[in-house]
Amino acid sequence: MRIVNIVGARPNFVKIAPLIRAMTRRPAFVPTLIHTGQHYDQAMSERFFQDLEIRPPDFNLEVGSGSHALQTAQVMQRLDPILDALRPHLVLVVGDVNSTLAAAITAVKRGITVAHVEAGLRSFDRSMPEEINRILTDAVADFLFVTEESGRLNLLREGIDPAKIHFVGNVMIDALEGSRRQWESSSIFDKLGVEPGATYAVLTLHRPSNVDDPGALANFLEAFETLARHIPIVFPVHPRVKQRLARQGCGGGAATEPPDRLRSKGIAYVDPLGYLDFVALVSRARLVLTDSGGIQEEATMLGVPCLTLRETTERPVTVTHGTNRVIGSDPGRILDEALQTLAHPPRRDRTPPLWDGHAAERIVEVLDAHRRAKGSTPE
Ligand code: UD1
Repeated sequence: MRIVNIVGARPNFVKIAPLIRAMTRRPAFVPTLIHTGQHYDQAMSERFFQDLEIRPPDFNLEVGSGSHALQTAQVMQRLDPILDALRPHLVLVVGDVNSTLAAAITAVKRGITVAHVEAGLRSFDRSMPEEINRILTDAVADFLFVTEESGRLNLLREGIDPAKIHFVGNVMIDALEGSRRQWESSSIFDKLGVEPGATYAVLTLHRPSNVDDPGALANFLEAFETLARHIPIVFPVHPRVKQRLARQGCGGGAATEPPDRLRSKGIAYVDPLGYLDFVALVSRARLVLTDSGGIQEEATMLGVPCLTLRETTERPVTVTHGTNRVIGSDPGRILDEALQTLAHPPRRDRTPPLWDGHAAERIVEVLDAHRRAKGSTPE
């Protein structure tokens, strides 16, 4: 069974790692890995391949940055002849980035079966580019692999055939558990000058709605600077945020701030971290502040209190079962909630169902059963 796996951006690499590993264990599977090149910096791409021990991609479409339309169109244009040549039985896409949608459309237009891993998540906020990518990818996918019950219910509400929906758990958690030994021995604490047992918070921020408007970003910075008087903050800065921070006179301009910045100013602006270093840092944090999707899940699994700096989450299980609270962007509220959380840290209530490190195996088993039902390798 020839399967083309598509990755483009940082969170995709984390999700594909356990899947490629599970596919490689099945002799009937012939997995190909295609990197669209949406993320291309060493720190945003190659480092993740190294950390997660993903084999180098078979193809790199090198689309790079651009408007949403341009990025999506270039993935489609460059992927199409490769699919034509490879004639895969299935194209597998993960997550909700532009590369996910572009590859799903390209495949379905060629009549190729599409599998979507992390289907069904909905923030119900269509101003998020990811929400559009999720809705459209799910609309054309044949296999919809969901991470949590809300995903299944959302898809049913949208009229998706229940036979296409498979509740398999979360491949992001497979990656987290599968690399536990490696991230537990990360040297990031030495590199950042964080003393063993130090109390600190981790911050990430990159959603366009939070960082593209200078006023919104200034409000956030005000809240973070006030909070940093109570707890030092480590802030790995996404490249799209870097120039914007520099414009506001913050540490985004320099490469990696010296470690003493952590002590002197309260906020350490550091370059994007690799997967293992980032998970290690989060695992020992007292608090995570983020607008990322995946980090809400990782914090839940690690039992670290998480405050989500958005109005909505597409991952409600992190709130009902986990340590996550969705608190929006008001500076006063961010400070109140952070101090409250530090004083009374929430605990993970229950591990979300099927977040057990075996989601990739379940996905591959569903695909293998499909292959067997169709009778060996269809042409
Ligand atoms: C993308 C995803 C988002 C995901 C995030 C993870 C979409 C619509 N968004 O957002 O869902 O949470 O990845 O990081 O697909 N840049 C670099 N080097 C890189 C990559 C990006 O400098 O390797 C800079 C460029 O200035 C680029 C900007 O970051 O224009 C934005 O990159 P892009 O891939 O368009 O979106 P992200 O914000 O990374």
